[in-house]
Amino acid sequence: MQITMVGTGYVGLVTGTCFANTGNHVICLDVDQKKIEKLHQGISPIYEPGLDELIARNAKAGRLDFTTDKTAAYVDAEIIFIAVGTPSGDDGRADLKYVLAAAKDIGNAIESSSSTKEKIVVVKSTVPVGTNKKVEDAIKSCTSKTFHMASNPEFLKEGAAINDFNKPDRVVVGCHDKSTGDRMRDLYDPFVRQGNPIFIMDIPSAEMVKYAANCMLATKISFINEVANLCERYGADINEVRRGMCSDKRIGNQFLYPGLGYGGSCFPKDVLAMISMGQDSGHPAQLLESVHKVNQDQRDAFMTKINSHFDGADWSSLKVAVWGIAFKPGTDDIREAPSITLMQKLLDKGVTVTAFDPVAHETSQEILSDKITYADDAISALEDADALIVCTDWDEFKHPDFDTMRHKLKTPVIFDGRNIYRRSLMREHGFVYHSVGRASVSPETTNA
Ligand SMILES: NC(=O)c1ccc[n+]([C@@H]2O[C@H](COP(=O)([O-])OP(=O)(O)OC[C@H]3O[C@@H](n4cnc5c(N)ncnc54)[C@H](O)[C@@H]3O)[C@@H](O)[C@H]2O)c1
Repeated sequence: MQITMVGTGYVGLVTGTCFANTGNHVICLDVDQKKIEKLHQGISPIYEPGLDELIARNAKAGRLDFTTDKTAAYVDAEIIFIAVGTPSGDDGRADLKYVLAAAKDIGNAIESSSSTKEKIVVVKSTVPVGTNKKVEDAIKSCTSKTFHMASNPEFLKEGAAINDFNKPDRVVVGCHDKSTGDRMRDLYDPFVRQGNPIFIMDIPSAEMVKYAANCMLATKISFINEVANLCERYGADINEVRRGMCSDKRIGNQFLYPGLGYGGSCFPKDVLAMISMGQDSGHPAQLLESVHKVNQDQRDAFMTKINSHFDGADWSSLKVAVWGIAFKPGTDDIREAPSITLMQKLLDKGVTVTAFDPVAHETSQEILSDKITYADDAISALEDADALIVCTDWDEFKHPDFDTMRHKLKTPVIFDGRNIYRRSLMREHGFVYHSVGRASVSPETTNA
């Protein structure tokens, strides 16, 4: 099939490349000239494990191309995927300006196309219920030719995106007519050969599935953080509570890790968008309003720990090391990352910050520019620091050389926002150790 992918971000680039990898001809269109130039040089503009090799292989085979030229991108397309961003607007509602701008471009392309083939326009971006109808109307305002709409929300996770796309738990397609459903099923057949389902449904339901799924996962994270906060107040250890709770099969153990709260380009904006959908429909999404508030408060609560530890100190003479900037391991995405909030709060107080992340320095520089220093490796970030703050649980932070760490730090203090260390180990190695949902320990603590 001839596919056009509109938007070469975390979703569009992975999706387009994986479709090319099953033999389709894919053109990835983006308005960002720099991204397309990088892709032409064989460089992926995002960090995603395995993506560079897959792009190179499919581009070399002539199945994958990149362009900023809208005419060239749309002319032969049979299926057009819209995979542009849908960030939160100022009022929390999903900002649809990129989606609707793409819809107009597509409408104009359909109008000027000489092909008699009816195109399918697929909304892959995460959009509030009713958006596919707006996209359809926007296209119809530019052309009277026939086209078909489909909603196809994406469930891949950054950091494991290729595997998730190639072996999806399920594929969800919303459409009005059987022939569109059949063509979408054909396209996805190679990805569900192990029997995972393709659910064909109406468009509003497909749009809602994505929000419902992300909001459920965000709810789990806020839930465990709420329990963690109560553990701190009642002398319980969230790790033990988690183990006891999650062994119940009805509960399971995924997305139930306490920490700094959820971040990234999806959960924060999707929870806000669902809250707005509640407000707009006259049925407030009360649970999700709390999920959002708990998540915001979680960052403040962690900052309160740092404030109390350094109470009375001259903040402008403090130096802090930060391990991990990305919102989670496996990606360079720093959108809504808790690390950025924390570093900004520290910078406001006059603290000097040195950070290390295995892949997210470039993306962080776009936000924080030269306000912080970037270390070449995790250990050198600690040089002369008054404390280490762990913000992302990259594997390489999990078994460091604790003795070297203690000697590098000016004072052996760790704030662990991801609970990656055992408290007893921290005490043995002589650290003052603050984590989430567990009592702090120090070398003087007797029973950690
Ligand atoms: N990132 C994820 O893990 C993830 C997972 C599932 C779903 N989603 C959803 O997928 C959508 C895209 O997310 P993303 O993270 O890939 O976004 P992104 O910001 O990484 O990429 C969007 C791209 O679209 C381009 N673009 C904007 N307007 C355009 C236009 N008119 N024509 C061509 N290109 C245009 C931008 O330049 C950018 O490169 C969002 O709705 C998001 O919620 C994201």
